Amino acid sequence: MMAVREILRLGHPGLRQRSREVALEALTTDSFQTLLQDLIETMRARDGVGLAAPQIGEPVRVVVIESRSNPRYPEAPEIPLTVLINPRLHPLSEEEILGWEGCLSVPGLRGLVPRWRHIRVQALAPKGQPLDFEARDFLAIVVQHEVDHLDGRVFVDRMRDLKTLAFEEEFQRYWREGKESRDY
Ligand code: NI
Repeated sequence: MMAVREILRLGHPGLRQRSREVALEALTTDSFQTLLQDLIETMRARDGVGLAAPQIGEPVRVVVIESRSNPRYPEAPEIPLTVLINPRLHPLSEEEILGWEGCLSVPGLRGLVPRWRHIRVQALAPKGQPLDFEARDFLAIVVQHEVDHLDGRVFVDRMRDLKTLAFEEEFQRYWREGKESRDY
């Protein structure tokens, strides 16, 4: 039975631990399939662009990412539904990109975060097939944000200047009026 799950918020110790790798044998179990469906359903119900398993209290290295077209945010890049199991990231250049991030576990806040602009992503897909692809810009940001959750980190930890930390209403008024603002 699939379900929209509660999302842990900052302060819950479950967001601050390193999650464990998923064993290949576990991928075919009902409990893993349920976890995957719950992650996807919860991400969609909360209109997130991504969600990591520890955010729903499951300390395993699984993230889901998806950005569907939304008439409210016509400039948002689309990302097809992507499941990453045991992901590993490698920067492919020194170049950084600064982006405004929000997080379903840090509701209401936005902050400017530096990330690698171009990365290589290696992971397993849900049936155990190896994935190996390059990600740039927005996709690279989202992947790094989600993988940080697997290591007990949130975007605030990565901010270089906490002066850009802003509530949604102030973000819209003083920083990025009318710009897309979603959580992941
Ligand atoms: Ni997040």
